[in-house]
This record gives sequence, C-alpha cells and structure tokens, in this order.
Amino acid sequence: MKLEICQTTLEHATQASVDALLVIWLDSPAKAGQLGEWIRTAELQKDFKATPGSTLQSYGMAGVRPRHLVIASGGDGSDKDIRKAIRAGWDAMKTASVKSLMVFWAGGQLPPSRLGLLAGELADATYSYSSTLTQPAPRSLKRVVFGLAAVSAGHATAIRYAQANLKGVELAKEWANRPANHATPRHLAQAARTLAKYPGISCKVLGLREVQRLGMGAFLAVAQGAHEPLRFIVLQYKPAGAKQAPIVLVGKGITFDTGGISMKPAAEMDEMKFDMSGAASVLGVFEALGQLQPAVQVVGLIPATENMPDGRAIKPGDVVTSMAGQTIEILNTDAEGRLVLCDALTFAQRFKPRAVIDIATLTGACVIALGAVRTGLFCTDDALASALIEAANTSGDLCWRMPMDDEYADSLKTRFADVANVGGRAAGAVTAAKFLERFAASFPWAHLDIAGTAWRSGAAKGATGRPVGLLLQYLMNQSGSRASSGQRSAKV
Ligand code: BES
Ligand code: MN
Ligand code: ZN
Repeated sequence: MKLEICQTTLEHATQASVDALLVIWLDSPAKAGQLGEWIRTAELQKDFKATPGSTLQSYGMAGVRPRHLVIASGGDGSDKDIRKAIRAGWDAMKTASVKSLMVFWAGGQLPPSRLGLLAGELADATYSYSSTLTQPAPRSLKRVVFGLAAVSAGHATAIRYAQANLKGVELAKEWANRPANHATPRHLAQAARTLAKYPGISCKVLGLREVQRLGMGAFLAVAQGAHEPLRFIVLQYKPAGAKQAPIVLVGKGITFDTGGISMKPAAEMDEMKFDMSGAASVLGVFEALGQLQPAVQVVGLIPATENMPDGRAIKPGDVVTSMAGQTIEILNTDAEGRLVLCDALTFAQRFKPRAVIDIATLTGACVIALGAVRTGLFCTDDALASALIEAANTSGDLCWRMPMDDEYADSLKTRFADVANVGGRAAGAVTAAKFLERFAASFPWAHLDIAGTAWRSGAAKGATGRPVGLLLQYLMNQSGSRASSGQRSAKV
C-alpha cells in the first residue's frame, strides 16, 4: 500500500482519478458544494447520522469521477471514532476492484500525527495473509491518497513515517501468522538476516554450540525437548555517527508452545503458533528502522525455539542454571517464555544499554486482566514507563501500567532453587514480570505482555502487528537527544 498526500478541496476530490473516494465527515464541517448539499439532505432525512461509522454511499454518481463514493461519519473526531469511520468506509466498498483510494478529510485541519492512525486502520482492514496460500487474494488496495485542505511539511514527514510503520506492522503480522512449520527458529533467523540488506543493520545468528558456550541454561532447558534446532538472533541497527548507548528490544520467539510436559489442552492450541509474536514485532521494528534510518541505536535479541514434550524435555521440578548464575526450579514447563527471556536479558547487559524492553506473549493472566485492548506494561523505571505510555498514546497502540510491588515476588520462592518459574494463579502476569525483573537489575527495563493484543481469535483470527506502532514511536521519540533519566521508582 503506497501512501500519498495531496492538498485539495472536496469538490476537487470528486474529480480525482482514483477508483474510490472515501470522505471522512466530521460533526460540523463547512458546507462544501453539491456534494455537501447531498450529505446535508441525507442528514436532514435521517439517512446519515453523525454516529461514528455511519455511512452513505453511491456508485457511478453523475459528476463524480471515482466509481465508489462513500461518506463515513468520523463522530467526534476522536481516535476511536476515526478508526470506526475508516473501517466502515472500507467495508462499504470492499472489493478487489478498488486499487486506488482517496481518503478526503472533511474535518478542518488534520494534525499530522493523525495520518498514521488513518493509514494504520486502512492497512489493517485491507491486509490479507498470503504466505501459505497457493492462490492468495489479489492485493486490492495499492495506492492511497490522503486529500487534505492544507498540507504542511509535518504531513510529509508523517506520511513517510506512516509508510515505514505500515511495512513494519505488515512484516510482523505475516511472520506471526505463519504456521509453526513455516516459521521455525531457522526461518526466523533467515528473516532477520534479510533485514541486513538495509544500511546500518547487521545480523548475527547463534546456534546450539554458541548458546551452550554462553551458558544460557534456562533457554537451553526449554529447547532441549525440541527437535527443531534453536536460534539466538542478534540484530543491530547502528546509524552512522551514533553516539548514545543502544536501546535493546528482546522478543519472545517460541515458534510453537505446546506447554511441554505440562501440556496445554487441545482447544485452540493452534493459536500457540502466535507465541513468537514478540519476535515478529522486533523484526517489524527493524524493517521500519531500515526504511526510516533514524538517529537511534537499537539492538534486537530473539531467543527462538519450540516448546515441546519429548523424552529429553525438561520435567516439572527440574532445576537449571541461568546465564546469570541463578538457579531456577521449573515447576511448570508451560512457563517457558520467562525462561528464554531471562537469559536474553542477561545477554543484553553486554551492550551497556540505556534501556531494555522485552516483548512477549507471556501470560494468559494478562489476557484476563486487560483483554485485547491494552498491552500490559511492567516497568520499575518511571521515566521509561512514561516514555512508553506517551508513545502508546501517540500511536494509538495502547498499553496499561501494572504494579510491580516486591510482595508479588513472594510466590516465586522455593526451597530447591534461587527462584521458581511460577507463582500461583493469583496475579500471574505480575509474578511473571517479577521473575524477569531479577535478570534486569543493571539497566532501565520494561516488559510488554502482549498475550492479549498480539492476535485476534475467532472468525477474524490473525496477528495484529502490535506493538510495532508503540515501539517505533518510542524509538523515534528517543532519536536525537532525549533519553531515559534512569531514575527508578520508589518501592512500596
Ligand atoms: N504463551 C503462553 C501464554 C499465553 C497463553 C498467551 C494464552 C496467550 C494466550 C505462555 O507460555 C504460558 O503458557 N503461560 C502460562 C504460565 C503459567 C503456567 C504460569 C499461562 O499463562 O497459563
Ligand atoms: Mn507456555
Ligand atoms: Zn508461551
């Protein structure tokens, strides 16, 4: 999907050479010519309402060049209402024949930051998975022109950013959607290597021997039940003249999570192919960084393996030694995410990072707590937490900060090792974060639990590409001079 912007009026928009024109209509936009009259009449007849997502459409209207014309109400102009308008507008015309579309913003001045929201929603509505289909649906929408009353330099920057973000989100979706036999650790490593085509991006992939030499006992413990060989992927984006310490992103790369010996029930187990969504989001972010070339150093770490039951698999009660030297009692082999992440966090130390953010489909408990709306944010550094929340709000890729009181770590105590890999059922998302915190003491650190937000279940089953939007926005905000103060919040 190629994005463009163009300064125009509603009247001129009706003469644009595109297949479809989608007008986002806000509560009281200025009356605009014949088309404006048409809409006002429909409003008076109560055939078109200001309710967000309400649409009015026509096909082959005299005097209008685009074949499809859809007016969609943008409600009060809030992020949510605009998204509804885009979604409803596209649903109204949804056809493979629409290859080019103009989205005309009939709501006065459009703040540049809103462009990404419009483009993102449209890209999500028009995305269709292709990797393992012999006859993928033809890509309908190729060109989207945003028609605005006034175009500024800010809009030009925003459209470039939105374009890169779309590419990143799309890459993340495609990889997360791939079935586990088409997205093995080796496949992920290959995808990461491909990203090294961009200036400033390099990729190194470690195999079993190297991981053993590093002493990543927790990661190795999860991988020992898998026949598919593990990979530890190291991506690095280093723009010319980068001076500041890097920001490290760690993506959980469980390419399939059976639960291991503590096996999961059969229902919906297929969805555990999405258990590498954190890894996919790291790949997506690097795709966007490659396109945008911002002045911020970033490292991407992906511990990738399957979690399988096997004669050699770890058993409940096994004690292993992590790379940090801490012993871990594996009481539940299904709590494997934190095991692969803890060694990656220890590995992150060598980059002397200014911040480390891990992204993981870590706990079903997080889905219970926050559902599919907001990603769980766990962070003991107030400055880093604020920066991530700000980026989430700007991008519309929302998160919610969760508590990190030390009392939550009590349930991880055991007589047989330094720490157990599970607490009880209570506050499961928090205890998982408290486990990780033990391995992240030497840098500002945040953990994003995307178990509820990385994919949709049911009829619309598929990856969302989250939280690429949040992460990219955060990294762009960090490019240049802004940095985390490194101040830690007071413990309660
Ligand atoms: N990948 C799962 C978490 C998950 C479950 C994400 C369902 C999305 C939907 C993770 O590895 C896991 O199995 N976690 C366990 C932890 C428990 C054993 C403490 C869980 O949440 O049940
Ligand atoms: Mn699991
Ligand atoms: Zn898992």
